[in-house]
Amino acid sequence: MTEATRILHLIASPRPNSRSRAVAQAYLDAFKYADPAVLVEELDLWSMELPTIDGALLSAKYAILARRPHRPEEAQAWERVLALTQHFLSFDHYVFSVPMWNLGIPYRLKHYIDVVTQPGITFSWTPERGYEGLVLGRSALVACASAFDYGAGSALHPWDQQKSHMHTWLRFIGIDDVGLIDCGPTRPGEPGAQAAQARAEEEAIRRGRAAQRK
Ligand SMILES: Cc1cc2nc3c(=O)[nH]c(=O)nc-3n(C[C@H](O)[C@H](O)[C@H](O)COP(=O)(O)O)c2cc1C
Repeated sequence: MTEATRILHLIASPRPNSRSRAVAQAYLDAFKYADPAVLVEELDLWSMELPTIDGALLSAKYAILARRPHRPEEAQAWERVLALTQHFLSFDHYVFSVPMWNLGIPYRLKHYIDVVTQPGITFSWTPERGYEGLVLGRSALVACASAFDYGAGSALHPWDQQKSHMHTWLRFIGIDDVGLIDCGPTRPGEPGAQAAQARAEEEAIRRGRAAQRK
């Protein structure tokens, strides 16, 4: 018997009527309809505690890079990082709902990324091979929302640091199989806004149905 697919839905929008979350949910509903055994866990990045990245935590990180054992205060700071990275690694597939904030991603998502992106756990570096991602055999779907159109060919495309950030980070930790759904533009009255929203939802359902066949 094959094991049920485990999906982590990381919610980076605090808005109750978030567009990125609605599109991610349409994807998850289609996925679950096609594969009822799938297990989905939601991680609301706005209601969870994330460890402060302070001096002790950074010393703990550099101790690992220098291959020296942790001092007691470093070990304590590292415990929470280990718990969150192990939790992250316990999934097969990641779904991110990501609003654009000031051209990039919301700071809570960046904070989470900074906590789980750790040497020896989610990536490695050696002089011979440079950076290598360690989160192998996983895939991701990123639902991105923005008020305006930043799609390829648009005037604002060169300003986008949201989709490019998510793509680059996921590749950095070893996830190459990344699907992206652009939910923008979401600003009411923006040309093409209604059509874009309908298209994003259709794409989410199509991808959700297809994903479980992979
Ligand atoms: C703090 C903040 C910054 C924003 N910055 C941008 C921006 O740089 N470009 C843009 O197109 N929209 C921007 N927006 C609008 C959101 O991206 C848009 O409302 C989107 O639908 C939010 O995603 P959500 O609906 O999933 O919450 C910003 C919104 C907030 C709250």
